[in-house]
Amino acid sequence: MTTVAIVYHSGYGHTAVAAQSVADGVASAGATPVLLKIEGLTQNFDSLVDEASKADAIIFGSPTYMGDVSAPLKAFFEASSKVWMTLGWKDKVAGGFTNGLTVGGNKDNTLGSMIVLAMQHGMIWVGTGLPPGNFEGNSKAAPEAVNRMSYSLGAVTQSDNAAPDVTPPAGDKETARLYGARVATVAARLKA
Ligand SMILES: Cc1cc2nc3c(=O)[nH]c(=O)nc-3n(C[C@H](O)[C@H](O)[C@H](O)COP(=O)(O)O)c2cc1C
Repeated sequence: MTTVAIVYHSGYGHTAVAAQSVADGVASAGATPVLLKIEGLTQNFDSLVDEASKADAIIFGSPTYMGDVSAPLKAFFEASSKVWMTLGWKDKVAGGFTNGLTVGGNKDNTLGSMIVLAMQHGMIWVGTGLPPGNFEGNSKAAPEAVNRMSYSLGAVTQSDNAAPDVTPPAGDKETARLYGARVATVAARLKA
């Protein structure tokens, strides 16, 4: 059985919604999702690093804060240096998703930080493989549109300043679900 760890931080609950959708997608592809929530900056990251190390793939999730990953996810990245010393994650499949308030908001940079971390570990990064959700030029793609934010590096969701049970919208959750399924499928193929 292929396992996919989803290591994520969510300060206010919106990225957690995306993480659950990613996990649903992993399960829909026949793999086992392992949701690993980062609680905050000061926790001991050793058990999270160990749990992630057991998985066939690791998907990183973070809100975009000041145009980058949140500090708790960055702390997890730094804690993963003990695995980097032995290239323990080399050839493991990697992916990432982020949630932000604005349509742009420098979320590319958040995904870029995740990609750099994955490349430092020698991991194999998987993009969305999805066409842009606003391909036909409608600058405000409908909330139910898949890949509404039109990202290829990783899954991107957008939430307004409302409760996580109403935002991010359905299309974004489906984007995250499809992404989880894609990463799990790639991981299973490589494992076979
Ligand atoms: C300190 C801080 C910085 C933020 N910076 C950005 C940003 O650069 N780009 C963006 O799109 N949203 C930004 N936001 C908005 C959050 O990404 C947004 O509220 C998101 O829903 C938070 O996810 P969470 O509920 O999982 O914490 C920022 C929010 C905070 C609190």
